[in-house]
Amino acid sequence: MYSVPKLEQYSTEALDAAAAELKSALEQESAAVSTEADWKNFRDRWMARKGGISTQLSENWLKVAPILAKREVGIRVNDLKARIEQTVEATQQRIKAGASKVADRVDIALPGIHRPVGAEHPVIRTVNEIVSVFKAMGYSVAEGPEIETDFYNFESLNFPPNHPARDMQDTIFIAGQEFKPQRDRLLLRTHTSPVQVRSMERLKPPVRLVIPGKVHRNDAPDASHSPMFHQVEGLAVDTNITFGDLKGTLDHAMKALFGSSVQTRFRPSFFPFTEPSAEVLVSCIICGAKGCRTCKQSGWIELLGCGMVDPNVFEGVRDNGYDPKRVSGFAFGMGADRIALMKYGIDDIQLLFQGDVRFLEQFA
Ligand code: PHE
Repeated sequence: MYSVPKLEQYSTEALDAAAAELKSALEQESAAVSTEADWKNFRDRWMARKGGISTQLSENWLKVAPILAKREVGIRVNDLKARIEQTVEATQQRIKAGASKVADRVDIALPGIHRPVGAEHPVIRTVNEIVSVFKAMGYSVAEGPEIETDFYNFESLNFPPNHPARDMQDTIFIAGQEFKPQRDRLLLRTHTSPVQVRSMERLKPPVRLVIPGKVHRNDAPDASHSPMFHQVEGLAVDTNITFGDLKGTLDHAMKALFGSSVQTRFRPSFFPFTEPSAEVLVSCIICGAKGCRTCKQSGWIELLGCGMVDPNVFEGVRDNGYDPKRVSGFAFGMGADRIALMKYGIDDIQLLFQGDVRFLEQFA
């Protein structure tokens, strides 16, 4: 076993050789360590304050070196001590890692872990499809908060405070805000239309936007209602946008979504933030417009609301370039869940939100 020799010569070659001999002994002994107990012996042999090899280097090499060789010997002793410390440390790491490896060793004979492949939820897939139809027409995507203020959800959209039009949308309000002015009170947005206004505050005209998102209404859940559902809003503002543009755009979008044989129909309606307003009906793709349960025997299904942006809505963002005398635009909002039900022939909206994997798997 290695022991620290007395130095007889102090030439560079002699010192290098002595250092090399020590290093190789250190490596060999380190390699032989295989247990915690081995390692403790190894550590003490090399590093014990009293009589350890490190200590011996100071005493047997450095202290007794002739004055002229002290510098050269000192450099090597320092270097060797550092090397000893590092090796002892690394040896301990190796022992520890080895021990844990045994514990979590992989049994390659076991069957593999089966990871089911995830898939887009049918509603999200539908939302993405709707968005891409409009992207192909040059629309950008915008989003806004699901917790909205009374101002953006209603007032900025030309629903005056206490106006009965607010009753069209059973709103879920956040409690305990009576101390705030009405316009600052929070609610769960009932539609994606507030993002029209938020976007026009942010972007100068012209704009062409689609706005996907979740909305909430205080509706009891049944086969065609859910208190949480999804909308895709659209907004196009420029000079000379007409109702003809609105019709053409939506007719194209419905054909892109449901197939080119689908027909659309526009029927007068009312929304405070559009004038004139319309609802769009699509020929029933379930029965081919012959009449079925889904279309209530009418051959038509109501899929979205739309209209020309009301000048009062532009008034609120006039300072950002939306002078109602100069610009015009259209907006629309569609329920993405209803569209998903139609596309996939599902007859109960609740199925979409119950998270039953057996149902969802069918769309993977
Ligand atoms: N926000 C309306 C709703 O949820 C739909 C709509 C959007 C109507 C845009 C006109 C213009 O019922």
